[in-house]
Amino acid sequence: MVFTKNSFGDQFSWGVSAAAYQTEGSHLSDGKGLSIWDVFSGIKGKINQNHHAQTACDFYNAYEGDIDLIRELNIPNFRFSVAWSRIFPAGTGQINQKGIDHYNKVIDYCLEQNVEPWLTLYHWDLPHALELKGGWTNRDIVSWFLDYVELCANKFGDRVKNWMVLNEPLVFTGAGYFLGIHAPGRTGLKNFLPAVHHATLCQAQGGALLRDLLPEANIGTTFSCSLVEPFSQKQRDVNAAARVDALLNRLFIEPSLGLGYPYQDIPFLRQIEKYFQPDDADKLKFDFDFIGLQNYTREVVRYSLFTPYMHAKLVGALKRKVPVTAMKWEVYPQSIYEMIKKFNGYNQVKKIIITENGAAFPDELVNGEVDDPLRVSYLENYLSQVVKAKQEGLKIDGYFVWTLTDNFEWAEGYHPRFGLIYIDFDTQTRIIKSSGKWYRDFLAGKS
Ligand code: BGC
Repeated sequence: MVFTKNSFGDQFSWGVSAAAYQTEGSHLSDGKGLSIWDVFSGIKGKINQNHHAQTACDFYNAYEGDIDLIRELNIPNFRFSVAWSRIFPAGTGQINQKGIDHYNKVIDYCLEQNVEPWLTLYHWDLPHALELKGGWTNRDIVSWFLDYVELCANKFGDRVKNWMVLNEPLVFTGAGYFLGIHAPGRTGLKNFLPAVHHATLCQAQGGALLRDLLPEANIGTTFSCSLVEPFSQKQRDVNAAARVDALLNRLFIEPSLGLGYPYQDIPFLRQIEKYFQPDDADKLKFDFDFIGLQNYTREVVRYSLFTPYMHAKLVGALKRKVPVTAMKWEVYPQSIYEMIKKFNGYNQVKKIIITENGAAFPDELVNGEVDDPLRVSYLENYLSQVVKAKQEGLKIDGYFVWTLTDNFEWAEGYHPRFGLIYIDFDTQTRIIKSSGKWYRDFLAGKS
């Protein structure tokens, strides 16, 4: 489909997204406390090639240059996160003024460059001191989190108009507290279920507190989502796909809409009620101004007798011999359209913004340039599906590329490069890739 920026209308929010832990570095500077990712990435064998993010992209020091690049690429909105342990080194209690000063400088610099800051409150880097008290499995996290939200609202809310409470709660609870492949590395239902419930409470209660403190703010939260399809039309594959869909796409949004957890499709979830207190059903609800969807791929699912709880397994893209990115994720542009449509199906959802979409490919620096045609076509093909949704009258109000610069890709280390801008991590040199130039020209209305 041929489209231009105009095809999306004037009110559409274009942006780029990033996260504190993946970019900032300076993990102990100016009074910052350790986060669970600082600790996890220090454990041998947890991260690809034992990479860590003590320096990462040095965004903590290099933010001015990077925000200049955002402006140079004509990107009007920048989504980034606050590192909780920079402003509350122990997670709660003592405030670190230098951490607050830092984010004030970043926010002010964005505004000076005409770049609108969009703040994510929690992008996975829990203060380690709180993990020592049980982290997301401890109900007290609701009050720790609300103190943190209140501080951010009071310190940054005079200038930041757009807020996201959590980034992808399924990933930080699933990978961090069930599979143990992300920080803090815990496993099993006994950790996963309380973490899910407390994250869902924080999501709603955090939104409600922002609303009280900043009545004019645009308040959202973000969800990972993927089109889930059965491997075959056999009933047991179809049922397995429905279970995975409930887990990947419905678990966190439905309680916020007052629909409760999707027990019907995932019966073992009922055990989550062990962690309920009176009135929790109400406390899980919040009327967000927008829902941030983050889509990269689709999942194909088949029945599996031996997979505990879910009795379902993913059929990997390599096995299916389909085009993949460096993450081995299938390139499947229709997935983004289907997700916009699916979340439009919830009447209560007012606005949908794609808060992340992008791809890692094996980029190469050749004669000082990075030509990444695969990323350009990935972005074009996914955007053409977003435009299709828009033209069908579905709610879709913005699109943010993941991500500005190559960065620390969690358990994968620095190997997958997702940026519009290449980083030589030895010298911290930035080089705009062809995809960055493509986005720049697209946003200028040239293509
Ligand atoms: C996360 C990012 C991550 C990206 C690519 C999302 O799950 O929010 O932090 O880098 O996807 O894996």
